[in-house]
Amino acid sequence: MAGHDGTVVCPGSYDPVTNGHLDIIGRSSQAFERVVVGVVNNPVRKERTLFTAEERQAFIEEATADLPNVEVRVFSNLLVEFARELDAKAIVKGLRAISDFEYEFEMAQLNRKLDPGIESIYMIASPQYSFLSSTGVKEMATFGGDVGDLVPAPVAAAMAERLGER
Ligand code: PNS
Repeated sequence: MAGHDGTVVCPGSYDPVTNGHLDIIGRSSQAFERVVVGVVNNPVRKERTLFTAEERQAFIEEATADLPNVEVRVFSNLLVEFARELDAKAIVKGLRAISDFEYEFEMAQLNRKLDPGIESIYMIASPQYSFLSSTGVKEMATFGGDVGDLVPAPVAAAMAERLGER
């Protein structure tokens, strides 16, 4: 990726961040100079998030504290605009299964239409995380399932507390 400062954006709702997200963020931090994790403020697809944008940001900051080239920011605008603001030339996302493909294919085409200068790069999920989603983790936690292996410890604790309040 010659000709720019090597910044990429890893965008998502991260409600909450999972070990699968952290795998993609960690691998991105090895492959690229600077990784900005973009936490979308108000996800379009979701009715209401379990955690506020600031909470979601803080969980990721804590979990990536040992990765010096990773920073976490909240964004409320178009992803390509956010990427431009950061001087990022690419968006990096994880792909778990064929079921992710159709949605991501559409997103990548829309983003290309909005800004052909921002590339979309897909990283194949590590096999141990190919089943993992924030939605699945929330459902498990809602019914008292153990999510300790699937999310960072502070996230598991916060989910138990937040879901217990409901
Ligand atoms: O983790 P998710 O929910 O799959 O992440 C979705 C995300 C944040 C990548 C997407 O909702 C997004 O890019 N939102 C910002 C608005 C935007 O630019 N949408 C795509 C072009 S229309």
